[in-house]
Amino acid sequence: MHRTMRPTRRAASTLGGAPVAGGFGASDAGRSWTQDYTLTVDPRTTVLDCLLLIKRTQDPTLAFRYSCGHGMCGSDAVAINGTPSLLCKTTVQQAAQTAKPATPSFRRTAGAQTAAAAVPTATSVGTSTTATTPASSADTPVIDLAPIAAFSVQRDLIADIDPMLDQIRALQPYLQARGDLAMTADGKVNVFEYLQSPEQLAKFEQLTTCIACGVCEASCPVFVGGDAFVGPAALVNQIRFIDDSRDGAASERLAAISESDGLPACQSVRACGLNCPQGIDVGEVIWQFIQGVQTRKQEG
Ligand code: FES
Repeated sequence: MHRTMRPTRRAASTLGGAPVAGGFGASDAGRSWTQDYTLTVDPRTTVLDCLLLIKRTQDPTLAFRYSCGHGMCGSDAVAINGTPSLLCKTTVQQAAQTAKPATPSFRRTAGAQTAAAAVPTATSVGTSTTATTPASSADTPVIDLAPIAAFSVQRDLIADIDPMLDQIRALQPYLQARGDLAMTADGKVNVFEYLQSPEQLAKFEQLTTCIACGVCEASCPVFVGGDAFVGPAALVNQIRFIDDSRDGAASERLAAISESDGLPACQSVRACGLNCPQGIDVGEVIWQFIQGVQTRKQEG
């Protein structure tokens, strides 16, 4: 597992409080290394539950983020064996399918628990969890965990996704309703209800399930590569509102995402949709949208 000290962390003596767990001091700030843990768990256990177990029984200093634990909040995206995924929606069994077998000659192993190997220049990982009791250490699948790419690391598995959220927020991710208002039984305008047919709802409904986890952004080579690009999450968010018949700001939204770092920056690699935990084919959505815009332009 790739671990990184919080950049601003200070020595306990400087703070004058209780000793900092792990004994890291100011000189450790920003230091990165790879640390291994070994667990014996049921294969159906989620990787999130493995981390909670490690935190409770082996290493209380381990830092990762989660909230709902059920695939609803999107706060726990990490790279599992290099693939952006949600901790709470990935079981050990699933993760083991893409795990590499342990290489004891490479890892320093002591007894049941693998020793922490400090690798200051390491940029990735190594948490091992054992799906079943292995015949030998060589049979133990090693599940690698790292913060998702494209974002700076706050600490251990926690990536700073604020730039993504800021980008989404800047594009006004809320309904600017100018649709047909429903009427109340006594003939007054019902300001709380807008009319929409099932077909109109179907046009954007799946996009409302986006949980802004950052998996699509971390899967996009353009975004990860650091090019000027608002990213697939912000684009999909705007397409969701543009395709909503109740929203009246479509032309302003389209203009905003037509800037050079918006739709024109998308290279249609389509990697963004490969790992979406909500099953949104992000690349296809963006591709179809671009096609629609071009067709409308040609039709004048
Ligand atoms: Fe909320 Fe995984 S903890 S989506």
